[in-house]
Amino acid sequence: MLAEPFNWQPGMWKMLIVVMCVALLGCLQAQELQEHVSIILLGATGDLAKKYLWQGLFQLYLDEAGRGHSFSFHGAALTAPKQGQELMAKALESLSCPKDMAPSHCAEEKDQFLQLSRYRQLKTAEDYQALNKDIEAQLQHAGLREAGRIFYFSVPPFAYADIARNINSSCRPGPGAWLRVVLEKPFGHDHFSAQQLATELGSFFQEEEMYRVDHYLGKQAVAQILPFRDQNRKALDSLWNRHHVERVEIIMKETVDAEGRTSFYEEYGVIRDVLQNHLTEVLTLVAMELPLNVSSAEAVLRHKLQVFQALRGLQRGSAVVGQYQSYSEQVRRELQKPDSFHSLTPTFAAVLVHIDNLRWEGVPFILMSGKALDERVGYARILFKNQACCVQSEKHWAAAQSQCLPRQLIFHIGHGDLGSPAVLVSRNLFRPSLPSSWKEMEGPPGLHLFGSPLSDYYAYSPVQERDAHSVLLSHIFHGRKDSFITTENLLASWSFWTPLLESLAHKAPRLYPGGAENGRLLDFEFSSGRLFFSQQQPEQLVPGPGPAPMPSDFQVLRAKYRESPLVSAWSEELISKLANDIEATAVRAVRRFGQFHLALSGGSSPVALFQQLATAHYGFPWAHTHLWLVDERCVPLSDPESNFQGLQAHLLQHVRVPYYNIHPMPVHLQQRLCAEEDQGAQIYAREISALVANSSFDLVLLGMGADGHTASLFPQSPTGLDGEQLVVLTTSPSQPHRRMSLSLPLINRAKKVAVLVMGRMKREITALVSRVGYEPKKWPISGVLPHSGQLVWYMDYDAFLA
Ligand code: BG6
Repeated sequence: MLAEPFNWQPGMWKMLIVVMCVALLGCLQAQELQEHVSIILLGATGDLAKKYLWQGLFQLYLDEAGRGHSFSFHGAALTAPKQGQELMAKALESLSCPKDMAPSHCAEEKDQFLQLSRYRQLKTAEDYQALNKDIEAQLQHAGLREAGRIFYFSVPPFAYADIARNINSSCRPGPGAWLRVVLEKPFGHDHFSAQQLATELGSFFQEEEMYRVDHYLGKQAVAQILPFRDQNRKALDSLWNRHHVERVEIIMKETVDAEGRTSFYEEYGVIRDVLQNHLTEVLTLVAMELPLNVSSAEAVLRHKLQVFQALRGLQRGSAVVGQYQSYSEQVRRELQKPDSFHSLTPTFAAVLVHIDNLRWEGVPFILMSGKALDERVGYARILFKNQACCVQSEKHWAAAQSQCLPRQLIFHIGHGDLGSPAVLVSRNLFRPSLPSSWKEMEGPPGLHLFGSPLSDYYAYSPVQERDAHSVLLSHIFHGRKDSFITTENLLASWSFWTPLLESLAHKAPRLYPGGAENGRLLDFEFSSGRLFFSQQQPEQLVPGPGPAPMPSDFQVLRAKYRESPLVSAWSEELISKLANDIEATAVRAVRRFGQFHLALSGGSSPVALFQQLATAHYGFPWAHTHLWLVDERCVPLSDPESNFQGLQAHLLQHVRVPYYNIHPMPVHLQQRLCAEEDQGAQIYAREISALVANSSFDLVLLGMGADGHTASLFPQSPTGLDGEQLVVLTTSPSQPHRRMSLSLPLINRAKKVAVLVMGRMKREITALVSRVGYEPKKWPISGVLPHSGQLVWYMDYDAFLA
């Protein structure tokens, strides 16, 4: 019997389509299962790889291999294949499985991981080409689709450029697959070298391809800062600010010293090694405005950068440094230095940081780290002000809940008496909420932390402790960029730290014996924006590291320069002397005339002066002071380049000058900048004539440029050097070219002119100008000669002791 012809009903079509779709989906899923990731570990036999990276990769394999990815691991180094293979095998011997995995399963997994891991020598361009070919062949052979490649640079930074060039030219994955390169610090030595390295890497890789590691961002307590702030917004919103926070301490203490690593350490020291990166990252996580979405990498970065912008510049007085006593001896031994060699590299530093924004103004952030200390511990501690008074005697206080007990929140990074990562919140603050990956913990009985028994805290620790590198490897694999350092972030941090590092370059650190013997020697205090050791350095600890003169060796020097009084000192003393002199002049002027007219320059030299005036001059008659600008760049007043912005950031926002006493230069009128037709210069001149008696300022603060310019009066440009005009538009040789400036005739009508000159860059011009006569066309500064007022030069030793 012939089968009846199949009768295709419309419903059957539908069914067939569904079946085909399911099959297709199955195929697609199967295809997803075939996605392959190649991980190339450069420096596969080195220390970091042995200690953390291989274990992290194994963990990644355990977590991800079953979830639709296949892997191959290429351990690479310069060593020849046979020897390299042996070294790598050793590094892989100690892989361990999670505690709850059965031993037989663990052995199986390890075995599979080892089969996927191969050593290869990567030395020449041909080696990289061969690697690429092998990966492609493997993909083709196994019918795999490439998801991406991770190159982990566990090598010294001098090797970066070569490796990067080779990867870029012959090891990029095909279209549709990603490339991720992972870089380990140091990322430069200061702002300039970091910028150079970043530019070089940027010529080979896109920003989104680079993952710069700061392993502190992988520490569980650090990674918990933003999520914790997010999950506890309700409680923290009203507390996380200058009204409630007394201070923040970000601390990393170590017991180990730098023995065996002095060739690295001698070049970096503790500030570059730990404060510039690890502690600064923690600081930004604590201080940043909380993004709406804390897992948006872009928002986190933007908010971090805002913190950097608000950091108040550091001065030499913002830090104390120390060095453990046997350090120099270790350096002499390891680096074959002569017996006379004494290192100035700090192995201990404490730095006082201020953040000049509405949230944190006035709250001290203490960053501290050191080697050879009495304990190993790391934490960020937020200590809240205690604004309560308890009337009942202490014995009636509700245990642990009393509002008169200390109130603090601690992100305990690790080690210490607690021995593990933790988040601690004083019970009298609020009951925190944490994700389910954290559990309430109990410590050893009787344990006291930060002045309170552990029972006074809500204390949480991770359910499963994970090593920082393994956390970060997982983030790299998932493309989570919020746990890594972008180029902008890196350069912002170096911009903040570099001036302090330069100013400390010749400072002799305090010597300390190490460990418990340090006693109180490294204790420090802070006030008025400065941080200092609590105790005098005992005599026997000072062998004198070299003949370099120390600030305290010098008194403030009084002499003459161009026949006018000269005050000279190290920069800090100089600034404080100038600030005192300005205050004295202001007090006198207000007493005699009821007001004080002060004209201020912009640029970098006066920043420290502004900060000094803002933080340490409570007697300054700000309410009666009028502030004028000596010169201005033709940019909007809100532009960071504007002199007014500098004044605003470093002085105005901290003192109470009446709004109507502040006189910015009108460079931005009718929505255009310094247009002649808008007559900004004339407007300013009229304002001066109207408010300042005889157009004679009580004090004009000037600087001196390396080319001899002052205010915005430049050599070879006749404008403003003589004539009737009080205020002029001028042209600068450097950008932004257009400027507005007080003229020399107006400056010379002042009752007092102070010229502040600081830094080595000024040495040549200082020497030159000391010899020239009145030649304002060549050196406008030489035209500063107040008619009946007084001229005083303030020069620091760097500029003057040429
Ligand atoms: C490194 C520093 O980045 O961090 C070391 O180079 C320091 O000097 C180390 O010892 C501390 O890291 P951890 O994870 O042990 O706290």
